[in-house]
Amino acid sequence: MDAYAPRPEHKFSFGLWTVGWRGADPFGLPTREPLEATEAVERLAELGAWGISFHDDDLIPFGASASERSSRVDAFRKALDACGLVVPMATTNLFTHPVFKDGAFTANDRDVRRYALRKTLRNIDLAASLGASTYVLWGGREGAESPAAKDVGCALDRYAEALNLLCSYVRDQGYPIRFALEPKPNEPRGDILLPTIGHALGFISQLEEPSRVGLNPEVGHEQMAGLSMVHGVAQALWQDKLFHIDLNGQNGPRYDQDLRFGNGDVKTAFFLVDLLERAGYSGPRHFDFKPARTEDYSGVWAAAAGCMRNYLIFAERARAFRADPEVQEALLASRVDGLAVPTVGPDETLASLADDAFDVEEAAVRGMHYERLDQLALDHLFGVR
Ligand code: GCO
Ligand code: MN
Ligand code: MN
Repeated sequence: MDAYAPRPEHKFSFGLWTVGWRGADPFGLPTREPLEATEAVERLAELGAWGISFHDDDLIPFGASASERSSRVDAFRKALDACGLVVPMATTNLFTHPVFKDGAFTANDRDVRRYALRKTLRNIDLAASLGASTYVLWGGREGAESPAAKDVGCALDRYAEALNLLCSYVRDQGYPIRFALEPKPNEPRGDILLPTIGHALGFISQLEEPSRVGLNPEVGHEQMAGLSMVHGVAQALWQDKLFHIDLNGQNGPRYDQDLRFGNGDVKTAFFLVDLLERAGYSGPRHFDFKPARTEDYSGVWAAAAGCMRNYLIFAERARAFRADPEVQEALLASRVDGLAVPTVGPDETLASLADDAFDVEEAAVRGMHYERLDQLALDHLFGVR
């Protein structure tokens, strides 16, 4: 049996827009024919995925008639039932249509903001009817190219207003849905609001119902900002805000590459999986990547399979790393466990600090032995231990 074969209990999910990406980029036309949603469901289920997510417009073309809408939704539902795939998450396309060129919830034009809310509410109803428990909000168009164009304080007021309204809507409807904000520093806007995990966490604390709102961090987006995805996700977990995650690959701070998970920064991917697995994260392992436009559909499915296979390889390598007695000894030598001890004990006061017999020179010359520890991690990642 293949130890790296994905199974539904691994909770791997894919955006319909990922395997359905046709390869159009700012310089080139699509390289692939459109993919039917029902075929995406069938193929992903065959590959061992558990779930599929979608934007409203991925499933139902923008402006479709009521009858087209219901026939598309019915066919999707039938395929899900037949293949045993679930819809853990849904989201709104608030970025493709030119009406959103200046943003959706934070567009300067009030009628655009009201339209964005209507479009979102409509898709939340569909998401709830398909059993989704997470609703992602990626505000790719919420931002500006010039600081003169946007009053950021007002934009954040309007962003918070939208979130507060959406929270009250799901509460009133009794939907078991939580919202997950997806940070990104730029692209398509020159500067996007809520650019990083930290900005989004700070924003959530200002909302009326912070418990209904968390994060959907994406690997490549934190890396575009030059930040550590592992540290960012660890903080989101620490604040109980990791509601969902977009796994993919990126090489350093540049345009959003959306590579398949495992391509790009492999060491970050390894330590991210180590973190998710050890933290007991129980949400979807969602892949948000763009299969390279060089590929035909066989390459698309190979890329989707690769995302899941790489996750399982990283998980197995991380387990081996943690179980290795030499690693455990190296962790102790690096005093990693020492950080779990409160700096001032429960029976102490600040006055107790005066009692320390501390040799500052001796402490200054102690080595931390991190180089050995890190090399052990690499040996496990490379598969040579
Ligand atoms: C990106 C984003 C998007 C969003 C998705 C959800 O790569 O910039 O990840 O793909 O995740 O559109 O709205
Ligand atoms: Mn991305
Ligand atoms: Mn994403």
